[in-house]
Amino acid sequence: MAFDVPRLADLDVENQRVLVRVDFNVPRAEDGTITDDTRIRAAVPTIQNLLERGARPVLLSHLGRPKGTVVEELRLDAVGVRLGELLETPVRKLDESVGDAVRAAIDSMGAGEVCLLENVRFHPGETKGDPELAAAFAALGDRFVNDAFGACHRAHASVAGVARLLPAAAGFLLEKELDAFGRVLTDPDRPLVAILGGAKISDKLPVIANLVERCDAILIGGGMAYTLLAARGEPTGTSLLQADQVEAVRANLERAKETGCRILVPTDHVVADSFAADAKTQVVEVIPDGWMGLDIGPETRKTYAAEIAAARTVVWNGPMGVFEWEAFQAGTEEVGRAVEASPAYTVVGGGDSVAAVSLFDLADGMDHISTGGGASLELLEGKDLPGIEALGSR
Ligand code: 3PG
Repeated sequence: MAFDVPRLADLDVENQRVLVRVDFNVPRAEDGTITDDTRIRAAVPTIQNLLERGARPVLLSHLGRPKGTVVEELRLDAVGVRLGELLETPVRKLDESVGDAVRAAIDSMGAGEVCLLENVRFHPGETKGDPELAAAFAALGDRFVNDAFGACHRAHASVAGVARLLPAAAGFLLEKELDAFGRVLTDPDRPLVAILGGAKISDKLPVIANLVERCDAILIGGGMAYTLLAARGEPTGTSLLQADQVEAVRANLERAKETGCRILVPTDHVVADSFAADAKTQVVEVIPDGWMGLDIGPETRKTYAAEIAAARTVVWNGPMGVFEWEAFQAGTEEVGRAVEASPAYTVVGGGDSVAAVSLFDLADGMDHISTGGGASLELLEGKDLPGIEALGSR
C-alpha cells in the first residue's frame, strides 16, 4: 500500500487485550435508532479476525460531539446491541471508558468475548489529545489497532495518543481505505479523473490545489462550480457565489494550465427562479439575471460521462447539484451512473456522494466507497492524517 503503516496481520495478538479504535459515529433517528449501520459492519472483519486469533478485543469509539460531558443520548448501548447482532457474539458494553472498574471488566473477559467501552468523547481530554487520557486508555490493553478511518484526521487521545504508547497496527478497514486512496493518489492508472462537487468552493479549494498536481482532468459541479464560472468571467445570476474565493480559484486555474490538468466546468445548467424544490426551472447555457444554477445541464452530463468512460481511475467527491430535490438530481444521478458503469478503478468519498450512491443504488459498481467524510477529504488535500502518522512506518 502506498501508505506504509504496520498491519494487523503482522501484529502478535494471541491472548492479548487489543484496544481497537473504531468509528461507530453512526447516523441515528431522533429516538436513537441507528439509521445506517455501514460503519459498524465495516469494523466486523477486524473484530472477527482478532477473535479467531485468540485476542480479547476492547473497542473504543466516539458518537456525536458531546463536548467532554456525559450526554445520555450519545451513549453507545444501541451500537453495542447492533454490533452483537452482526457478530453473532455477545458484546459487553461498559458505561465508562477508563478507570479501575473498566480494567477489572476487561481482565475478566472470557475467550470469544468483545468489550465496547463508553463514548470516549465524554472525557474532555479526548478531543484535546490529552496525554494522560491516552495513557489511561493504554493501561487497558497490550496492543492497539486503529480501524477508525473516519476519525484519523483527528489528533485525539484514542486515535493518535494511544497509538504511540502500545505496539500498534492498522485494522483491515483502515488498510482498505488507505489502499484505495493510495491507488488514486500514488501512481494511478491514467487517465486519472476527479469529479468534485458540493456547495462551497472554499471547502474544496485545498483538494483542487492538490489534485491539479495529479489528475488528467477534474470535472466540477455543484454550487462550487459558479465561483469557477465567475473566475472565468461568466455570468452566474443569483447562483451561490463566494466572491472572496475568486482570486484563489484563478490561481488554481493558472496552475492547472502548467500541470496539464484539464479543469472542466459546466457548459449548461438547470436553473431555478428560487431556491426551492418546486421552483420554476429551465435549462440554459448562459445563466440569466435573477436565476440560480442548481444542477449541471444535459450537455455537461454527456461531456462528463464521456470523460468518466475514458478514465482508468476515478475519484468522486461531492454531488453535481441539489440532488435531494427531484428537479435537480439528474446531474448527480447521471454522473453517478457513469462512474458505476466505468471500467476504471472507482473511489467514492464524502458524505453527500456516498448518500447519492445509496439513493441511486450505485454501490455495486463502485470499487471503494469510503467510510470517512472529513478524513477522505483531507487525504485528497494531500494532508498527513494524525491517526495514520501515529501508527508509524513499518
Ligand atoms: C465523521 O463522522 O466524519 C467522523 O466520525 C468524525 O467525526 P467528527 O467530525 O465529529 O470528528
